[in-house]
This record gives sequence, C-alpha cells and structure tokens, in this order.
Amino acid sequence: MKKLLILMLAIVMVVGLASCGKEAPAAGSSSTAAAGSSEDNSAAVTGGGSGDTVKVGVSMPTKSLQRWNQDGDNMKKELEAAGYEVDLQYAGDNEVPLQVTQIEDMISGGCKVLVIAAVDGSQLGSPLAQAKEAGIPVIAYDRLIMNSDAVSYYATFDNTKVGEMQAQYIVDALGLETNKGPFNIELFTGDPADNNVNFFFGGAMSVLQPYIDDGVLVVPSGQTEQAQASTEGWNTEKSQARMENLISAQKYGPSGTKLDAVLSSNDSVAQGITNALVTSAGYTAENFPILTGQDCDVASMKNMLKGLQTVSIFKDTRTLASQVVTMVDAILKGTEPSINDTATYDNGTGIIPSFLCDPVVCTIDNYKALLIDSGYYTEDQLQ
Ligand code: GAL
Repeated sequence: MKKLLILMLAIVMVVGLASCGKEAPAAGSSSTAAAGSSEDNSAAVTGGGSGDTVKVGVSMPTKSLQRWNQDGDNMKKELEAAGYEVDLQYAGDNEVPLQVTQIEDMISGGCKVLVIAAVDGSQLGSPLAQAKEAGIPVIAYDRLIMNSDAVSYYATFDNTKVGEMQAQYIVDALGLETNKGPFNIELFTGDPADNNVNFFFGGAMSVLQPYIDDGVLVVPSGQTEQAQASTEGWNTEKSQARMENLISAQKYGPSGTKLDAVLSSNDSVAQGITNALVTSAGYTAENFPILTGQDCDVASMKNMLKGLQTVSIFKDTRTLASQVVTMVDAILKGTEPSINDTATYDNGTGIIPSFLCDPVVCTIDNYKALLIDSGYYTEDQLQ
C-alpha cells in the first residue's frame, strides 16, 4: 500500500513538472509557425512588450508617394494600439542624409526597435552599425537593407510574385499562348537603389523573356535592360519624360506605331506613362495599351476607372503593418517572430529571415471587393 502511494505521488510530480515546463504563449505573439525558422533571436532585448511604454522608431522614405504615408499611418496606429510609443519620421522626399540623421536620433532617443523602409538600401551601414552596437534590433520594412549585419528581420510582400503577376496579366490579356503576335511592349521599372526593383523587374522578365526570345513580344526601343527601364525615385515626371521620348522616337500612337502593352512596376511610374500616352500620343480609353502598376494608389485607381490603366497589384499595407507589429512584439519579448521565408533575401551578409505577405491582382472587375468592401478606400475617394 505504501509502495503504491509513493508510486502515485511520483506520477503526480512528473506530470506536474512536465506541465510547468510548458510556457503559455506570449500575448500578442503570432500563432503562425515560423516555417523553417531555427535562427536564434540573438537580437532580443528584455523588458519590453506591449503594456510598457517602449519606444519604437519607424523610418519611412518619402512623403511624396501615397504608399508611404499610408504605411507610416498604419504602423503608428497599430503600434500605439499595442501599447508602444512611436517615433515616426519621413526622410523628406527620398533624402538619404536626412534618413541617416533621423535613424541616429532614434537610436540616441531611446528607441528599442527600429523599423526602416530605406530610401537607398545600400546607404545605411553606418547608422545601423550604431544600432547594433546599442543592441537595437532592426526590421527592414518592405525594402531590404543591404550589406548590414544589423538587420534582424525583413517584412515585405512577395516581390518576385508582384513582377510575375504583372507580366502574366500582359501574357493573358494579349493571349500570347495562342496568339502569335507580334506585339509591341515597352518596359518600365523603379529606382535603381531600391532592392525590390531587382525582384519586380526580375520576376516580370522571367515571364516575358521567353516571348521576347520567340519574337512574339517585341520591345521596339530595344531598352530591355533593368538599368534602361529604371525610373529614379519612382518619380512620375521622370517616367512621363521617358515615355514621351519613346513616343517620339518610335512614333507610337493610335494612328502611328501600335503600342500593345507597357510594363510598369508600380503606380507612380504608371501615372507618368498614362500622362504621356494621353497628352503626347493621343491615346484614349478606347485604344489604350495594357498598362500595369502596383499599390492601388488613388490616382491610379481613378485612371483605371477611366480606362487609362489596366491593372494594379494590391498590397494591403494594413496586413504588412500588423505583421510588423507582431514581429516587434516577439522581438521585445525575446520570442521568435513569425517568418515564412528563409531562402530568398540575402542582403550581402547572409539570408535575412523574412515574412512575405501576399500581393493580389486588382482590376476594374474586383476592385470593389478588394478596396471598397474591405474598407481600404471609400467609394468617394475614387471618384
Ligand atoms: C517599392 C514598394 C512599392 C512602391 C515603390 C515606390 O519599394 O515595394 O510598393 O511603392 O517602392 O514607392
């Protein structure tokens, strides 16, 4: 009897100990398993977490494009709702030295985590070395920061997929699988200092190149290199000027050389292309070439509703912001943030564990469900 009691007591103790060893999941940490993530979170800092007034620095590249104002607003709102204090700064209009100073100020001002969308991904080595020295983890936001071992995580959309989706839209709309063409296309992408451009343009060209090689798609200007297609600062006036040059050199127009499609990596660039096609070549909604974009900017959605842009790629910045807030939370609690890619993004110091959100094709056919019903925009904003 005594032996039986001792045995029962021993069983109770073992079971009790085992359950004590299991920690309750941290509040606010994502329940999504970190696929393939076995990295140490060596950047973890202690004493933070929602509830304390821990300061988080959010550095955005420019006030001049709708996208980043939206991202900044979302990040601030979500981080504050999670109990953080937020130091949100915009680097003027893509000004690298200003972004450097702002990041330095965030470090000296006591931020415990930095979330950075870089103007130029290769120019932040020195402030980020200071962050590392001070034990402040850095999350690269949307754009990867290159050649710095201070970057702990990267949160973005699947940038290759964005390019592939744009190109596949053109392939399908022109019916390239069954229609032998030839069709004329011109190619536009974004800022050469934005690492995303390699993925947007690379993804698109992986789909288009076979058709170009077969002669089904023709680039009359011959400008097929990424450097030739790039647009400094993703600037609308610059893409308009290049499109105007192409129009006059190739004599594009409804009664001139036919232009079947224009690949544009994003909306700010597409808006310049639209301006040029309308004002310098006389295109209208009736004969408008297929034109791609990205971001579902208000100006581009208005163009789309008028038949002056064909497609955009919707990247719900609310999703990205929430994802980053869960990353910040996990880092500050010393737990592993949710990541879903450990293969794609090497910043020159090794692979940066990443979370890639899903981009979605947006056209006149589904914009209501995507943008209006989801509360991203009101119907009025797009009038
Ligand atoms: C990219 C970003 C795009 C677009 C572009 C111009 O890095 O991924 O969504 O906004 O910058 O700002």
